[in-house]
This record gives sequence, structure tokens and C-alpha cells, in this order.
Amino acid sequence: MSRPATDVVKLLIVDDLPENLLALQALLRDDQLEVHAATSGEQALSLLLEHEFALALLDVQRSGMAGLELAELIRGSSRTMHLPIVFVSAADREHGCTFRGCEHGAVDFLFKPLDAYAVKSKVRVFTELHRKSRELRRHVAELEAARAAHEQLLTTLRKTEDELQRALTVRDEFMSMVSHELRTPLSVMTLDVAMRSGKLGKGDFAYFSPERLHSMVGRDGRQLRSMTRLIDDMLDVSRIQHGKLSIRRRRTDLGELARHTVADFAVHYRDVPLHVQAAAGIVGDWDDGRIEQVLVNLLSNGLRYGQGKPVLVEVGMAADGMALLAVTDQGLGIEPQDQQRIFEQFERLEAARSSPGMGLGLFISRDIVRAHGGSLQVHSRPGEGSRFEVRLPMTTEG
Ligand SMILES: Nc1ncnc2c1ncn2[C@@H]1O[C@H](COP(=O)(O)OP(=O)(O)OP(=O)(O)O)[C@@H](O)[C@H]1O
Ligand SMILES: [Mg+2]
Repeated sequence: MSRPATDVVKLLIVDDLPENLLALQALLRDDQLEVHAATSGEQALSLLLEHEFALALLDVQRSGMAGLELAELIRGSSRTMHLPIVFVSAADREHGCTFRGCEHGAVDFLFKPLDAYAVKSKVRVFTELHRKSRELRRHVAELEAARAAHEQLLTTLRKTEDELQRALTVRDEFMSMVSHELRTPLSVMTLDVAMRSGKLGKGDFAYFSPERLHSMVGRDGRQLRSMTRLIDDMLDVSRIQHGKLSIRRRRTDLGELARHTVADFAVHYRDVPLHVQAAAGIVGDWDDGRIEQVLVNLLSNGLRYGQGKPVLVEVGMAADGMALLAVTDQGLGIEPQDQQRIFEQFERLEAARSSPGMGLGLFISRDIVRAHGGSLQVHSRPGEGSRFEVRLPMTTEG
């Protein structure tokens, strides 16, 4: 049966007589054997550096001590320490393991005159041994690779499991937050409805005075707005996660948009001074509804976390040629180490826990601004207030 090319093994023969080497080469001719010959110790050493041999046949009859020195050098190097050595010597010569380091690898002897059968069978034994150990090393390497692959798979699995667990926790927290946020306006409305139907049941129509009806409708409107906003925010988060937040651009005057939005806000938040400083003619191709949503989020935050102090909305041109929309408050402020994470979904700072909110406003706003090719950044000092800056390119790129 023929062997694959990878099964070829190398053999080193050393003898100072070239005719002896030729005779050995002829004797050992075989497809699966690559015989390298050296006539001196130096030549043998340079071949040993270059190749991985299965066996070295060293003639010690003629070269005497030179052969033994070569054997010592072979045993002395970690690369060749275990190379089996067969000494070729005269039959009458005293033999034995008489050189330094001989205990490390196999040592055998062939006696002159050489018997072709003995030489071939000895070489076959050692080359087979070499093949087997090479195969074994290959198997060990394969096993090691398989073990490493398993290890990596296991690490990936553990990571996935952790991520899944985190996602489950986020989902649970999200569900409890949503139910809490919806429950508050719902329970106010439920109480109101119960009281109104009680009054109606008793025929107490005087209760429904024009002023009271006014404030009831106002309250109902607020609760409905807050529930609608919550649901819209959740839908936006889902759109962002699926990369489907759409932007419908049209000519928009940013200053006008800011003035209208602030005017609407001022109706509902009479206690907090709201100011607008808007330059004229800041007009670009933006989704006005979405930019208004960003401004509403930033304004709501300014009012929620602004401790009742004035909030300023500015519109102008930034130095880099982008349109600038900024909302500045003089409230709680944000610690430097928190200034990035507040843009992640559900991130709320300890100081904000007493106010309603889901931690979605900034996450959605930043995504809307980025979808326009712009940026949303915060500058803030704890205790002094915060300034949120939106930058929008005037033209659509691409
Ligand atoms: N102007 C601000 N001053 C101080 N802290 C702020 C300000 N704006 C945002 N924050 C902090 O960043 C957090 C995240 O803000 P974000 O607008 O994303 O969520 P939220 O206001 O808590 O809830 P909502 O989903 O209703 O907007 C807030 O909870 C608050 O801790
Ligand atoms: Mg907010």
C-alpha cells in the first residue's frame, strides 16, 4: 500500500568516505525515505539544523572519535536530543554507550561488513517509530485544537447566557417601570371618573361648575398626553432598535419651531420662566415633528430637573456652520461621570428618581438628531445647571 507524501521521513548518514555513503544510499533507496548524506561532522550539524531526521547513521569505524563527538553534540542540543543514533562500527571493536548524553535517546549498532537485510530492517524499525510519534503529535495537536475550540464555544455560550440574563432583567425592569408610569395617570383618572359618576348619580350637577369642568378637562388632557407620550416613546425605542426610525424632511424654520414649542409649553408650565432667543432665518431640511420631539424632551428635562429656575432655549448658527438648538437650565446639573450614560436607554440618575420618567427621552432624542446627521451633547456642572446642545447640518449629505 503506498503512503501519503506527508509520510516521507528523513534519514541522516555520516561517513567520511563518499563511496560508503553512495553504497548506503543505494541500499536504502525507498519512495518514503529521504536520505541526506554528510562526509564530516560540520556538514552533518548543518543538515541537522535544517531538517527533522528520524534517524542518524554514524560511521565510527574510520572517523573514530569524530563520530562520538558528533553524537555528543547531537545529544547536547534540545532540538536533536532525542534523535535515535545508530553507530556503524567494526564488529570486533568494543562497543557500548560511551559518549556523553547517550542516555537521552535510542542508541543502536550495526557492524561491518554491513548486512543489507540487517541495515534495512533496523532503519525500518526507527522510521516506523518516527512516523508513529509524528502521528501521535498530530493527534495531540488536533485534540488540543478541538479542546481550544470547545473552550471558546463555552466562553461564547456563557457570554450569551449572561447577555440573555441581562436582557431578561432589563425587560422585567422595563415592564415594571411601564406599568408604574401608566398606573399613575390611570389611577388619577379612575378616581376622577368615580367621583364624577358619584356626583352624577346623586344628581349633584352644581358640582360641575364651569371652572371645575375647565380644570377637569385640563387634568384629563395632561394624563392622556403623558400616557400617549409614554406609548409613543416605547414605539420609538422599538423602531430605533430595528433601525426603522424614519425621518421625513421638509423646509423647517428652527427659530419658528422653537418659539411655537415654547409657547405651547408655557401654557402648561406657568410657574417656570421660559425664554427663547432665536436668530431669524435658520432654515434647513429637517423633520419638524421629530425636531420638535427633541426640543420637547430637552425642555421637559429642563423643567423637571431645573428646580423651578428659568430655562432658556436658543437657536442660532454654530461656529462649524451647523444649526444650533440649545436648552439651558440652572438646576441639578450632572456629574461628569454620568454625562454619557444618561443618553442610554432607561438610565436615570439618583437625583431624578423622585420625578416621573422612563429614561428614554435623551436616548430617543440623540437617535433622532443622529438620523439627521447631527449631534446632541451636554455641558453641565453639578449644582449649577445643564446645557444640552443639538447641532444639525443645514443640508442633507449624499
Ligand atoms: N437637564 C437635566 N438636568 C439634570 N439631569 C438631567 C437633565 N436631563 C436629563 N437628566 C438626567 O438624565 C436622565 C435621563 O434623561 P431622559 O430624558 O433620557 O429620561 P427621563 O427624563 O428620566 O425620562 P423620560 O423618558 O420621560 O424622558 C434623567 O433621568 C436625569 O437623571
Ligand atoms: Mg426626559
